[in-house]
Amino acid sequence: MAAMTVLDFARRKKAGEPIVMITAYDALFASMVDAAGVDAILVGDSLVSVLCGEETTLSATVDQMIYHGRIVRRGASRALVVVDMPYLSYQVSPVDAVRNGGRILKETGAGAVKVEGGAEIAPAVEALVNAGVPVMGHLGFTPQSVHALGGPRVQGRGEGALEKLLRDARALENAGVFAIVLELMPALIAQRLTAGLAAPTIGIGAGPRCDGQVLVLHDMLGLNEGFAPRFLKRYAELGAEVEGAVKRYAEEVRTGRFPGPEHVYKV
Ligand code: KIV
Repeated sequence: MAAMTVLDFARRKKAGEPIVMITAYDALFASMVDAAGVDAILVGDSLVSVLCGEETTLSATVDQMIYHGRIVRRGASRALVVVDMPYLSYQVSPVDAVRNGGRILKETGAGAVKVEGGAEIAPAVEALVNAGVPVMGHLGFTPQSVHALGGPRVQGRGEGALEKLLRDARALENAGVFAIVLELMPALIAQRLTAGLAAPTIGIGAGPRCDGQVLVLHDMLGLNEGFAPRFLKRYAELGAEVEGAVKRYAEEVRTGRFPGPEHVYKV
């Protein structure tokens, strides 16, 4: 199969073919999800929560994103690699955005970056696109604004919410995004946004009518056992598998059953 490019996203929307995106933070998992045939791999700034135990994504740095973007790119041969721009790397000025987004593209080999926010970040998106950096948007619950939003809450409810989201999405579209992630919103709101936009939408907690879906790999594999929001479907229970395997190993070391004769080198 040919490598995915940002142009394929629009084609997929036109053809009504769902886009499959998933996160990865290293070469090993990137090679597995790539072999499984996903269309895009997101190097999410969620890595600071999932891998490093932070409560929010706010501490992620450009250097961290570049490190993980580069190792994911090594493991991916077909999927488009999209790297999150971390908090404060694009909000301060379009000049900052181009410097940081350009570095991410240049130093990782990724095909695109992702930014969170609506009309207020449109000038940064436009500057990135003009500099040749493909940009994916992100609306609804935007984790970099977790404090302003009062926590990870469903967005898009209440009077005027759909209109505001539509205005933001159109501002992003006019600025040149090739796709928009819709996070944590009622399915009907996501459906209306999807129908009203030319850019493909990729949902997470946004129902089945988006043009594609994204999940955090560690969550859908059951590696993050305490995390069980309504929108998440677990396709495996690897957290329990890992704990069980390590318990068996510890028990065998303690009782002298490992290493056995088959694991020993002869002279
Ligand atoms: O950082 C991330 O993993 C994300 C997804 C939740 C879309 O932005």
